[in-house]
Amino acid sequence: QSDQYILGVETSCDETAVAIIKNGREIVANVVASQIESHKRFGGVVPEIASRHHVEQLTIVFEEAMKQANLDFNEISAISVTEGPGLVGALLTGINAAKALAFSHGIPLIGVHHIAGHIYANRLIKELEFPLLALVVSGGHTELVYMKEHANFEVIGETLDDAAGEAYDKVARTLGLPYPGGPHIDRLAHEGKPTIDLPRAWLGEGSFDFSFSGLKSAVINTLHNAKQKGITLEAKDVAASFQASVIDVLVKKTSQAVDKYPVKQLLLAGGVAANKGLRTALEKEFSSRDGLELIIPPLSLCTDNAAMIAAIGSVLYDKGIRSDLALNANPGLEL
Ligand code: KG4
Ligand code: ZN
Repeated sequence: QSDQYILGVETSCDETAVAIIKNGREIVANVVASQIESHKRFGGVVPEIASRHHVEQLTIVFEEAMKQANLDFNEISAISVTEGPGLVGALLTGINAAKALAFSHGIPLIGVHHIAGHIYANRLIKELEFPLLALVVSGGHTELVYMKEHANFEVIGETLDDAAGEAYDKVARTLGLPYPGGPHIDRLAHEGKPTIDLPRAWLGEGSFDFSFSGLKSAVINTLHNAKQKGITLEAKDVAASFQASVIDVLVKKTSQAVDKYPVKQLLLAGGVAANKGLRTALEKEFSSRDGLELIIPPLSLCTDNAAMIAAIGSVLYDKGIRSDLALNANPGLEL
């Protein structure tokens, strides 16, 4: 039997990414062109600029990935592409490129969910064992997802307002830090002390939902009040206090979820999974629990990439799932 090669395409936000994985788990090419520099001066992602960059970069990134893998198109088993959620114009650039390639080379096409991709980044580290729980923390999502088998996602809790990454970026902006703010807050938090008392939204007994907008507002109000009183708060202490609150809620809710849903594995996924404080806190809490394996992907597989898109694509391919050439961007796609 010949090897399976899945080519993944990801353009949902501000990274143009193409990757190829072999037999579901082995990365043979992984190329990411980041646009962060172009969006920085606007303090966030500008959708129109994102689409234009994707269009400019896609061919280059494709060619680089094919070169890295040293493969010919007739060896590619399927092309998987992010169908949503994301910025509609950005998504369309990747979808149209994937469709054109699929059509011209006669290769099956598979539209995939971006968050399913983030979760499946873990399968590039370790074979998944079910049932499992995934803590998804990205710029657009904060979710606890229960899986009893491959490609079967049950959202048991989600954010009611801002996503964790969104809160990081907004607080960073308030502190005058560049976009994306997550890594800057992370760095500052390690230099400071959590001296400021900030709220934690538990949302009632037994709830696995999250809310971060109150915390974000509390940070803004605290800075404002201090300024009015002529007190200067150190950015590093604000960062440390904010990060402590976010991590506290994420770890405690995940711990309660693990108590309620006995699982074999706990996966961490999404851009905020790159956070050093969060990684350390999860390791401390979960690495010595009997029968529970904690999986945390390396930083490059936490933030947006196409290897994760190929990883979920591989599972769907094995299940016989295909998209037709009418595949369209779906910015509000549900998991
Ligand atoms: O998953 P991702 O790359 O894109 C989305 O699908 O949203 O996540 C991007 C988010 C941004 O909000 C960014 O600030 C955050 O991940 N992020 C971090 C860190 N690295 C990236 N947040 C906290 N600490 C980090 N080290
Ligand atoms: Zn993402």
